[in-house]
Amino acid sequence: MKITFLLNGETVELADVDPTATLLDWLREDRGLTGTKEGCNEGDCGACTVMVTDEGGAKALNSCILFLPQLHGKAVRTVEGASGPNGEAHPVQQAMIDLHGSQCGFCTPGFVMSMVASHANGATDHDTQLAGNLCRCTGYAPIIRAAQAAEDQPVPVWVKDKPVTAQASPMLPGSSDELAKVYAKNPDATLVAGATDVGLWVTKQLRDLDPVIFLNRCEDLKQITITKDEARFGAMVDMNRMGEALADLHPSYAEMIRRYASVQVRHAATVGGNIANGSPIGDNPPALIALDATLHLRKGDVRRSLPLEEFFLDYGKQDRAPGEFVEAVSFPRQADRLKAYKLSKRFDQDISAVCGCFNITVTDGVVADARIAFGGMAGIPKRASNVEAALTGKPWTRETVQAAIPAFDSDFTPMTDMRASATYRLETAKAMLERYFLEDQGELTNVLEVSA
Ligand SMILES: Cc1cc2nc3c(=O)[nH]c(=O)nc-3n(C[C@H](O)[C@H](O)[C@H](O)COP(=O)(O)OP(=O)(O)OC[C@H]3O[C@@H](n4cnc5c(N)ncnc54)[C@H](O)[C@@H]3O)c2cc1C
Ligand code: FES
Ligand code: FES
Repeated sequence: MKITFLLNGETVELADVDPTATLLDWLREDRGLTGTKEGCNEGDCGACTVMVTDEGGAKALNSCILFLPQLHGKAVRTVEGASGPNGEAHPVQQAMIDLHGSQCGFCTPGFVMSMVASHANGATDHDTQLAGNLCRCTGYAPIIRAAQAAEDQPVPVWVKDKPVTAQASPMLPGSSDELAKVYAKNPDATLVAGATDVGLWVTKQLRDLDPVIFLNRCEDLKQITITKDEARFGAMVDMNRMGEALADLHPSYAEMIRRYASVQVRHAATVGGNIANGSPIGDNPPALIALDATLHLRKGDVRRSLPLEEFFLDYGKQDRAPGEFVEAVSFPRQADRLKAYKLSKRFDQDISAVCGCFNITVTDGVVADARIAFGGMAGIPKRASNVEAALTGKPWTRETVQAAIPAFDSDFTPMTDMRASATYRLETAKAMLERYFLEDQGELTNVLEVSA
């Protein structure tokens, strides 16, 4: 595979690229650019953060779980390229010096590159922007002050990268039509969307993956279409764009996505990958199932659609044929009654122990429809069918909720693992239904929102 991209403003052309060589390894081992650090090598710490610019703009990404072919046609900037050609400090670097934000040599380059990217985008929600850069030793206050101080400084010309023209390549299809053809010919290939799961198969499980088909150039799979009847998200819509699009439709779902990993991971992770991986603890499936979502699949020229919940057959088993891929997911437009509750050990940047999504329609004081779906409670994302049945047709009262709660015991037999015990999972799932009811009655339940 031959690829072209810009590195710190200079064109790089690579032939015979190993499809699963990571940008981090290549920068450090082939280019000697050791400013980008390796901490966790699994997307968790941000020490390896670089800025990548494509048609969608500049983004902070973790280079440890970014494969070189994903960069074809893009522009990469590392910490060595943050300062100007004559050594001029970038405004965030100067602010880090002035306000004593610089910490150890391990985390600081990653912090700086996250700040360079958010500065380029004009993002000022610094807590969110830096949630994916971990330091457990010093503290964030001087860094946040530095990010704030740099806000009003102009973006230096040398970091205003533009994507480059890139030749077509069979394993980097440019549309879903091309993808359908190449995947039908290579049904054993591994599809790579954002690589936030597949990256770890390589860096942690040391798996050899070949052939690999990269989906990131399929622009038509990145479309979001919202009509008066439905909302439709192409498989390659990343989590940051998904969160933005959901903010008006279903704010609780959007808020859950803000707690989905970190900015760096959300820029890469796609909704198609989060569904296709079949994980029982992915955050999108329960919310989408509660919204009555439909999954759209394609194999060659043949398309089919099915209710999302039917896609998940058993742990590790999905209703997807060889050569078939996820094209989109859609749900009907509806009045917003959705609450998505994500319970994790750490507030930011953590996988859910339990993710409960509730969409209960009440008409004239009676439950007209209840769609409740959970992640982390079974081997697949699963509806609480018995709880739903116990609520439907009943008055929407505390008594009805209390009477429905025992039905959780027949809906779920969760497991105990490092994230939570089975008992804790079941108890919190029950508490989530009570929380939904109380919030619906206007009671404050969020411990993060303190009121006098
Ligand atoms: C640090 C970190 C934190 C994370 N936090 C969360 C979290 O809070 N919540 C959460 O839900 N997940 C989390 N994840 C998991 C991961 O980000 C998600 O599962 C993500 O959505 C996967 O999408 P991707 O585009 O990166 O998929 P990839 O890794 O590219 O692919 C995942 C799987 O899906 C297949 N695939 C991808 N696209 C398609 C398609 N269109 N059709 C068919 N198959 C396809 C691939 O072949 C592969 O089997 C986290 C991951 C990391 C590294
Ligand atoms: S090395 Fe930790 S996120 Fe990449
Ligand atoms: S990891 Fe760098 S100071 Fe804590």
